[in-house]
Amino acid sequence: MHTQVGIIGAGPAGLFLGQLLDRAGISSVILESRSREAVESTIRAGVLEHWVVELMTELGIGERMHREAHFHDGITLQWEQQRYHLDVTELTDGKRVAVYPQHEVLKDLIAARLADQSETIFGVSEAAFHGVDTETPSITFRREGMGELETLRCDYVIGADGFHGPGRQMIPKSLRREYQKIYSFGWLGILTQAPQSWPELIYANQAQGFALLSTRSPDVQRMYIQCDPADDIANWSDARIWEQLHERLETDDDWSLTEGPIFQKGIIPLRSFVCEPMQYGRLFIAGDAAHIVPPTGAKGLNLAVADSVVLARALEAQFRHNNHALLDAYTNTCLRRVWKGERFAWFMTTMLHRADGDGDFEQRMQMADLDLIRTSRATATSIAENYIGLPFD
Ligand code: FAD
Ligand code: DHB
Repeated sequence: MHTQVGIIGAGPAGLFLGQLLDRAGISSVILESRSREAVESTIRAGVLEHWVVELMTELGIGERMHREAHFHDGITLQWEQQRYHLDVTELTDGKRVAVYPQHEVLKDLIAARLADQSETIFGVSEAAFHGVDTETPSITFRREGMGELETLRCDYVIGADGFHGPGRQMIPKSLRREYQKIYSFGWLGILTQAPQSWPELIYANQAQGFALLSTRSPDVQRMYIQCDPADDIANWSDARIWEQLHERLETDDDWSLTEGPIFQKGIIPLRSFVCEPMQYGRLFIAGDAAHIVPPTGAKGLNLAVADSVVLARALEAQFRHNNHALLDAYTNTCLRRVWKGERFAWFMTTMLHRADGDGDFEQRMQMADLDLIRTSRATATSIAENYIGLPFD
């Protein structure tokens, strides 16, 4: 079996790359360890930067998104029990935020890939890269229920395989530099069957810690609260979660949060991570395989898509014109954007959470940052530009 580009991972990075390559007439095979059902139902990110919306439209996969996504003019920041509407649209020449869940994006990408008859093999095991520093790299894997190991020969191989996949490990340790920050808090996320309580997302910094009010549909809402990342979700009864959400989203007027049955809940740890370089020989890594951001500011999914755009352009230049300059520059091109995403996610996280060891000084800094956003148009514009998605170079 031979393909031009062999990809491990059917997440946003792998599936966007596959779609972009298809449009450029470059063949690819995507190998994914999970089932299609699992990929299409795992609850993760929710916010698309404006250029991702445009990209989906250009790729012909935006129809359902335009129908079902919630397009917001801005976000609400809350501190000291008061709310402030950051008018992202007005500050960014009319751009809007789209709330459209990651698994819905993946459903649209998988449907398009099936229609194009490009191969995606779900449920594989033992996927492994070989010969990445040669001109004939390959991936071996086992199909679900099959005894034999198969070999996929490729011109280029891609690790779009998330933080725990094998891709990054193929870059020799002696060449790899990793930057990491682990936060002392995690996020407890819920899905609840309830109507919307507020017309846009609320990012709140209150005395008990951070809370985020988001949405999924007119009758399903997504909410998060800062918690101990090592805590057991079993310690969080629905009543305790609602009590914390009420306290952290409370205002000093008569607004109230509407409750509903909680049908999904889980805890995720928060980390910042960057691997340098993002390439070795004929292997390129993209998305969470190369970098992780804490979710405050909704950058993770968007950074993964940005890598895929850079990589698809570079592979097209290579296959069409035998020009490898863009492939050679892949790490540097991606990391310029990645570090700005890392900075923004770290800044939003630091401004909005109560960290272990923070004292009165750190809290005053947070209040000063938030008040600057409220009172300085330049500061507000900077937050809005980062939130909506920075332009490509
Ligand atoms: P992934 O989506 O992780 O995709 C990688 C794929 O590779 C997976 O499908 C995996 O099964 C597959 N894979 C891995 N190893 C192998 C193997 N050996 N063989 C075959 N397949 C393999 N970001 C936000 O902005 N906001 C959020 O609220 C948010 N919530 C999140 C919640 C969770 C629980 C997680 C894990 C992430 C969250 N993120 C969030 C981050 C965002 O979802 C990721 O940045 C995004 O999924 C990155 O896409 P990716 O394609 O790089 O990686
Ligand atoms: C969602 C997640 C985020 O990380 C964020 O900043 C905003 C919204 C969400 O899951 O809806």
